[in-house]
Amino acid sequence: TSAVDTLSSKLDSLKLQAPPAIQGSFPDYNTVDLCRNYIANQLSELTGVDASIAYQSLEWSLVLENGDLIVPLPRLRLKGDLVALAKELAEKFPLGGYLKKVHPEGKFLQFFFNPEFLLKYVVKDVLERKQDFGSCPLGKGKRVVIEFSSPNIAKPFHAGHLRSTIIGGFLSNLYERLGWEVIRMNYLGDWGKQFGLLAVGFEKYGSEAELESNPIQHLFDVYVRINQDVKAEEEEAEKTGVPLDEASSVDGAARAFFKRMEQGDKQALGLWEKFRALSIEKYIDTYARLNIKYDVYSGESQVSQELMDRVQKELQEKKLVTEDRGALLIDFKQLGEKKLGKVLVQKSDGTSLYITRDLGAAIERKEKYHFDKMIYVIASQQDLHVRQFFRILEKMGYSWAKDELLHVNFGLVLGMSTRKGTVVFLDDILETVKSATLEIMQKNAEKFTLVEDPEAVADLVGISAVMIQDMQGKRNNNYEFSWDRMLSTEGDTGPYLQYAHSRLRSIERNCNVAEEKLLVADLSIENLVGTEDQVKQLGLEPAEQAKKLDILATQREKVESLVRILVSYPDILRYASKNHEPSTLVTYLFKLTHQFSSTYKVLRVMGEKEQVLEARLALFSSVRQVLNNGLRVLGITPVDRM
Ligand code: ARG
Repeated sequence: TSAVDTLSSKLDSLKLQAPPAIQGSFPDYNTVDLCRNYIANQLSELTGVDASIAYQSLEWSLVLENGDLIVPLPRLRLKGDLVALAKELAEKFPLGGYLKKVHPEGKFLQFFFNPEFLLKYVVKDVLERKQDFGSCPLGKGKRVVIEFSSPNIAKPFHAGHLRSTIIGGFLSNLYERLGWEVIRMNYLGDWGKQFGLLAVGFEKYGSEAELESNPIQHLFDVYVRINQDVKAEEEEAEKTGVPLDEASSVDGAARAFFKRMEQGDKQALGLWEKFRALSIEKYIDTYARLNIKYDVYSGESQVSQELMDRVQKELQEKKLVTEDRGALLIDFKQLGEKKLGKVLVQKSDGTSLYITRDLGAAIERKEKYHFDKMIYVIASQQDLHVRQFFRILEKMGYSWAKDELLHVNFGLVLGMSTRKGTVVFLDDILETVKSATLEIMQKNAEKFTLVEDPEAVADLVGISAVMIQDMQGKRNNNYEFSWDRMLSTEGDTGPYLQYAHSRLRSIERNCNVAEEKLLVADLSIENLVGTEDQVKQLGLEPAEQAKKLDILATQREKVESLVRILVSYPDILRYASKNHEPSTLVTYLFKLTHQFSSTYKVLRVMGEKEQVLEARLALFSSVRQVLNNGLRVLGITPVDRM
């Protein structure tokens, strides 16, 4: 194929040969895969082990000091003295231009990539592919539905929705980068008795004008007020002992209204539809600030009565439900699964429930979208609910439920409140963080005047603070929401990453070298940092010379580490798509930016002679590109100045 041809021709110019590609590898897109293929084929030749087994036995090394890839020899299923074998293999192993050294460590073999090769090959690869560097057609031809955010109309947008939005947005971008067709879906909480209550409340307290201008806030306010009325009514009934009157009480009116909705009453549905449509309109804008655009605004209301009837019928046919005082429930214990308890699937008055709607929605989505995978990004608090409905689908005979449905869960956010009070809406969070960021930016008056659109920059930097704080830990862990910590440019924060990006941008601006020049820059170590011989020829005093050689060694070590980190980006994306952990990518971006900072400290760009300047700039530009790509996958817009 043409991909392989371009790979070979690129390698040709470095006088390297492309090793045979092992199935499942993407050597053209991922240079670590290229090296894996090389190592696996050589290992196979030396030991007789099947090359694909050798390929699968290659593991990452956690720190660069231990190499780039590691093979635990026991995984090759070889017999005999493996320690001796490791030594023997390390000695014999042909480096072939891809490797710098192979080191035996007990029963392990450590492989160190050749930085000379990486510098010449990967830096250009990044600069050529630009925003596509890291992508890979891993999921080509496959479709995934990702359901995330899913707030409830007229109720607060709480931390759980925030995390679902952030993690789901990330996963959508990630899958897209990896070649999947992604359907982003928002499953709104837009059905249930509370909409009867909301309608009654709107009659009493609502304002058309406010509904139009700020629907989400207004519906929430109305909902809060009418709930207070209901509470007062109940207290009154308790006190006086006079039971609530179905006809004249707020609660009764709400019930009646929702009943009309469920029966398809046009007028009742009209009002609810307006609430829904206006809320969605507003949501679209807010999500856009987070770079999220949904393909589908679905919701609990969209699960039709026919579908619910069908679910009910199938549950009966498969003998999964038992009747209990007019209601229908599933008793998992009777089905041999103690841990899942019991769950109600239909109330005695015939109305449907959250879980029943989830069953129907899943079946409908499978039939409509023919997905290969569907991911639900929902808080761990709903673990049981999700396990129950996944399992019920399986028991109903939908075999895809077992392999194709995935719950990506996450822990709690503790102490999330604005400086004024409790956070209620996504917009509030974004506005607060924006003004806090603006305040911080204003402290550096000189720099501040250089920023073209400070409001826009503050918005982007602020959002990155919230997003990075959310994604830097393992998603299952709870975390403490802290304005101070997340807004600091010191330590591992969103503003720190933005700062690194804007700094790299400023290096590029200051050098002002045409892109084409960077693509042909000489990225040999000799040109980038120089050689010992060059230093020795300077004829310096011994002490001075020793100092210079020291600096040279440091520069070299920094540059080599930097490019070794750079090359692993495509692998990081692939790994993140397996564990569905945003922290995999966030941690990587911090590692990359830290290494950039420490390299830049010892490797200046401006003021160097043209040839050297261009090579160093090419290296740092490729770092900027990868940082930019990574931030975008996270859903963050990198800034050029801040
Ligand atoms: N609206 C729900 C809530 O706020 C979340 C919906 C999750 N998705 C689902 N398919 N059940 O709790």
